[in-house]
Amino acid sequence: MDKFIIEGGRRLVGAVRISGSKNAALAIIPSVLLAPGVFRLRNTPNIRDIWTMSRLLGAMGAHCELNGSELFVDSNGVNSFEAPYEHVKKMRASINVLGPLVARFGRAKVSLPGGCAFGPRPIDLHLKGLEKLGAEIGIENGYIIANAQRLRGARIHFDISSVGATENILSAAVLADGVTTITNAAIEPEVSALAKMLVKMGAKISGIGTATLEIEGVKELHAVEEENLPDRIEAATFLIAAAITQGKIVLENVNPYHLTAVIAKMEEAGCEFDVTGPNISMELNQPPKPIDATTAPYPGFPTDVQAQWVALMLTAQGSCRATDTIYPTRFHHVPELLRLGAHIEVADNTAIIHGGRPLSGASVMSSDLRASASLILAALAAQGRSEILRVYHLDRGYENIEKKLEQLGASIQRVKTEDF
Ligand code: UD1
Repeated sequence: MDKFIIEGGRRLVGAVRISGSKNAALAIIPSVLLAPGVFRLRNTPNIRDIWTMSRLLGAMGAHCELNGSELFVDSNGVNSFEAPYEHVKKMRASINVLGPLVARFGRAKVSLPGGCAFGPRPIDLHLKGLEKLGAEIGIENGYIIANAQRLRGARIHFDISSVGATENILSAAVLADGVTTITNAAIEPEVSALAKMLVKMGAKISGIGTATLEIEGVKELHAVEEENLPDRIEAATFLIAAAITQGKIVLENVNPYHLTAVIAKMEEAGCEFDVTGPNISMELNQPPKPIDATTAPYPGFPTDVQAQWVALMLTAQGSCRATDTIYPTRFHHVPELLRLGAHIEVADNTAIIHGGRPLSGASVMSSDLRASASLILAALAAQGRSEILRVYHLDRGYENIEKKLEQLGASIQRVKTEDF
């Protein structure tokens, strides 16, 4: 087990290259199950979740290799249609193999993902969507059992905008007989990245980037090479790392358009931006202003940046609110931030942050990926030494986070520990 030791209070200055998107990679990699062949996915982040996805596909008979940032997948040998609990419990996005498996092989056995650190996370929309496409779905011994002779196109309306359900149903519909329409589809960039890859593979999809997707099923698809998106959540985390230390940063390899909501909030807080092509420069020379943030589906403020925003607002002079409308109980970072001297109250789905109090180093425990990022950020701003335990959560989703922060001038060290 590793932990980070951080000596806070240093101003971060410099440039950092943003890695490929975790969530886009986890959406596009399972689509290798839709066609036999050799795939190459560039700009893949070297993080635990990608290793988990590669192992899962490996257990199904695919051969995966991550060379630098290029993921090579040979899907010719796929001969098992099961996603066992041992993989799914490590990473919920394993559920993304369900749609492709049923669509191509007519059957799938995928462990139910269960809850997660920030509350219940149902998958009813995934299952209802597949049933609409003609799959028979049962639950046995903690597993989803799905069968279908051949899927057939259908009209599917999601009551809630769901990234994962849109991805799963889209990847199933591409091989269904006839036309599928998905309304209230999620419009996150990661969904569009998947749709574009599927089109490259031979799928017929219109409405990409909008909330109405129309898919005309095709008989077969083929393997492709694809370039993954930059990680907009990693990018936001580094922008906030610089802002929380009143520093100056250049992010390289980003899509600024995907960060519109985050940049707008940071500008309100007083951060100055300069956007040139795929690079973003940001500077903050005084404490941020207290600014409320409410999470919403894309293009709104991302729930995956809520915890980091709470950390930033601890350094603001005054009080503000962070409301999470996507995951109303996603506030596990709060009790740990209190250990660093923060003053935050949580009422319903809102954290009320009373900023401007001095933060001082302490031992804190990570509970999930973005909560862990929030603790690192607060530790960077705190005076003195902090220990962040359970950094395996961070390793799931941030590539070389300590090296990147060190390069910007942070004092951060990874050490092995017996502590759990
Ligand atoms: C994805 C992201 C996650 C991000 C989330 C919201 C990946 C691997 N994960 O998760 O980082 O925080 O989008 O942007 O891409 N819901 C249902 N029924 C369902 C599915 C979802 O009620 O069947 C609800 C959820 O509880 C949540 C909302 O819909 O309140 C959005 O969730 P969803 O977009 O599905 O999140 P994920 O795809 O799991």
